[in-house]
Amino acid sequence: MFKGVLFDLDGVITDTAEYHYLAWKKLADELGITIDRQFNEKLKGVSREDSLRLILAHGNRENDFSETEFNQLAKTKNDNYVEMIQAVSPKDVYPGILDLLKTLKQADIKIALASASKNGPFLLKQMELTPYFDGIADPAAVKAGKPAPDIFILAAEIVGLKPAECIGIEDAQAGIRAIKASGALPVGVGEAEQLGSDIPLVGSTAELTLAFLEKQWDN
Ligand code: BG6
Ligand code: MG
Repeated sequence: MFKGVLFDLDGVITDTAEYHYLAWKKLADELGITIDRQFNEKLKGVSREDSLRLILAHGNRENDFSETEFNQLAKTKNDNYVEMIQAVSPKDVYPGILDLLKTLKQADIKIALASASKNGPFLLKQMELTPYFDGIADPAAVKAGKPAPDIFILAAEIVGLKPAECIGIEDAQAGIRAIKASGALPVGVGEAEQLGSDIPLVGSTAELTLAFLEKQWDN
């Protein structure tokens, strides 16, 4: 039996993946760079700075900005995003997530956050989910962001576990790669087209029950 679940946040616990997309799209539009939802699949799970690098490269503008300007662009996106998430509340928690957290707690299974977002702690607080988490991995404390495994390794470590004792839940290509590289068992929220057909997937978080996770673990 697994001993811990390592949760991604954006797109797994709530719909903030959409706000990230809208905030990046606004910035890209202002820079004259066109991004669409298909391109956005590459941004999911990726840090703020790496996302901006990908967007600038996509528009062939990677050499157009000084470091100060680059940091200002990243700040503009985040200011816009932070404004969008002020109204996030407990009713924005995705279906089944609260029940899953409660069931995991009762079963004495550790719960950790492995989000790349520096806004993760704020969002958990807004959704009143902070008390369920035994640990929150700080993305600023890891050397390499997703798809590197670092954040999942750290999340397992802060709840006293090895990744191999844990399930990781992700909605992003970069996140699934990170979970695989960490040695944890990946479960994807989304479509095989984006996340691959070699891992267990759910179309909706409502399917993420303890029984479902146990079944994947036993397979
Ligand atoms: C990830 C999101 O969870 O966090 C990415 O999927 C985002 O889209 C990344 O870029 C970093 O988030 P933030 O809030 O620190 O800019
Ligand atoms: Mg995500």
